[in-house]
Amino acid sequence: MKKIILAITGASGSLYAVEFVKLLENMDVEVHGIVSRAGEKVLSLEQRLTPAGLPGVRKWYGIDNLAAPMASGSARYDAMVVLPCTMGTLAAIANGLSINLIHRAADVMLKERKPLVLAVRETPFNRNHLQNMLAASEAGAIICPAMPAFYHLPENLTDMARHFAGRVAAQIGLRVAGLKEWSGIDV
Ligand SMILES: Cc1cc2nc3c(=O)[nH]c(=O)nc-3n(C[C@H](O)[C@H](O)[C@H](O)COP(=O)(O)O)c2cc1C
Repeated sequence: MKKIILAITGASGSLYAVEFVKLLENMDVEVHGIVSRAGEKVLSLEQRLTPAGLPGVRKWYGIDNLAAPMASGSARYDAMVVLPCTMGTLAAIANGLSINLIHRAADVMLKERKPLVLAVRETPFNRNHLQNMLAASEAGAIICPAMPAFYHLPENLTDMARHFAGRVAAQIGLRVAGLKEWSGIDV
């Protein structure tokens, strides 16, 4: 069984996290969650949900709990996903600030050479955002911008978010059954 960390920060797109958790529900994966204060606000605003409303998460850890298991490399998590990831959290991770548990857990993943996916979301990007993405990528993070696709012909927002959540899952080696894959067309 894989053990992964899901961090939800205060960027628009908490629906992606909701769909990600749903995708993992029937897989052999244990999800441990962390949500930032802004993440809680946006989750409530956009989805009318509290973290407890995401049933696929085995355990939630407080954002200031720097003694939580994922604050140490000895805890052996397989991967971490920040979904969605704000520019603030990106900046903290890119610069190794470790101010809260999300930043620290991400720093641990990088030092332990474990997959860390940052589903960054902002538009447009300024120079700092772009530089921080490059710095985080060079430190080992996977920058997976929250950019939904249209080629799978989504019929609604859930479809769109589910497809992107599946792409994020694939980045940490989780194959989602039933997710449409591009098989090519004759043009
Ligand atoms: C409704 C709402 C949507 C937001 N969307 C974004 C966003 O898409 N990207 C971003 O970087 N910040 C966004 N913010 C701002 C962040 O929530 C804010 O910078 C916060 O301090 C980030 O803290 P965190 O990284 O600890 O979650 C949004 C805020 C609100 C209230």
